[in-house]
Amino acid sequence: MTEYTPRPEHHFTFGLWTVGNPGRDPFGHEVREPLDPVESVRRLADLGAYGVNFHDNDLVPHGSSAAERESIVKRFRRALDDTGMKVPMATTNLFSRPVFKEGAFTANDPAVRRFALRKTCESIDLGAELGATVYVMWGGREGVEADAAKDVRLALDRYKEAVDLCCEYIRDRGYDLRVALEPKPNEPRGDIFLPTVGHALAFINELEWPDMVGLNPEFAHETMSGLSFTHGVAQALWHGKLFHIDLNGQRIGRYDQDFRFGSEGIRDAFYLVRLLEDSGWGGMRHFDAHPYRTEDAEGVWEFARGCMRTYLMLADKARRFREDTDIRAALSEAQADRLAEPTRPPGGLEEIRGADYDEAGLAAQGYGNERLDQLVTELLLGTR
Ligand code: GCO
Ligand code: MN
Ligand code: MN
Repeated sequence: MTEYTPRPEHHFTFGLWTVGNPGRDPFGHEVREPLDPVESVRRLADLGAYGVNFHDNDLVPHGSSAAERESIVKRFRRALDDTGMKVPMATTNLFSRPVFKEGAFTANDPAVRRFALRKTCESIDLGAELGATVYVMWGGREGVEADAAKDVRLALDRYKEAVDLCCEYIRDRGYDLRVALEPKPNEPRGDIFLPTVGHALAFINELEWPDMVGLNPEFAHETMSGLSFTHGVAQALWHGKLFHIDLNGQRIGRYDQDFRFGSEGIRDAFYLVRLLEDSGWGGMRHFDAHPYRTEDAEGVWEFARGCMRTYLMLADKARRFREDTDIRAALSEAQADRLAEPTRPPGGLEEIRGADYDEAGLAAQGYGNERLDQLVTELLLGTR
């Protein structure tokens, strides 16, 4: 029996803001004490994680002096060194402070945009200092409620300008850092710009250095839009743009739930893990989720362990899926492998146009998808 014990080589990472989430929601106050980032590093290391990620202010509180920053970073770095934990990704909080209520990179007021850029440059420095190679850009306040107040085409001009300026900064500094845009349809804004994987992919083509920019798609965010997260991730991979990923649990049509990975949408989670594992994607398996508000301090670590164990169990199911002889036969009946055959025959379009097709015969084929799909259900429910 496989143990499903997380180990650093599985490359599981957590945001400091995930395990450190104090359980505040729009209707209720915090239910857990603030968590010391050093404690998070130690507890996650004990559980077998590979690393942690943070927003600038998760580590260095807003308003810290240069000396305070230095001592915080020093203490944090010591915890990393003691545990072997890494910081693969860094990001900036451009959403909590009141100054960003009308937007950050897409605020109407240029002074707010410049302030957001200065904060981002400082945060990029902090991430690079701690070894991050991915910089995530989640534009939580880049959106609008009152459509009359914001010209979306101008907002996209300014968004592009901000991403270009960040890339310029990374290049000037010589940092080994790639930028990953994180799409989200809404929350906290009524509508957020770059709402889905598809919007963000198209936006990247308009940038000054498109090769430096890719995606950080999130399970909850595509699911909120009613889209298939796995399909979004597959397309990001197809474009060579999957730079990072946010794993969690979410039901369609709800608020941004950010539940433990696999707690909702277990079948979607299976197809996602299968995709990541089969594609040989080399990135981090990052959890951007938080513990239920019902949890006390210990429940937080149950949550973290659960995210990783579920991933490993699903990766094991993906392996069994590949090896199961009935599933292989069903896949062959579905002609799944034949999609790899190019459409163009040796004789090209001329051959295509000149050939005879047995339309009735082709239409009469069955693909056995019912049996295949039921086999997946039985695999997931543990009856095979
Ligand atoms: C959310 C987002 C954030 C971002 C994080 C990293 O919906 O709150 O998912 O958690 O991922 O800010 O930039
Ligand atoms: Mn989210
Ligand atoms: Mn996220």
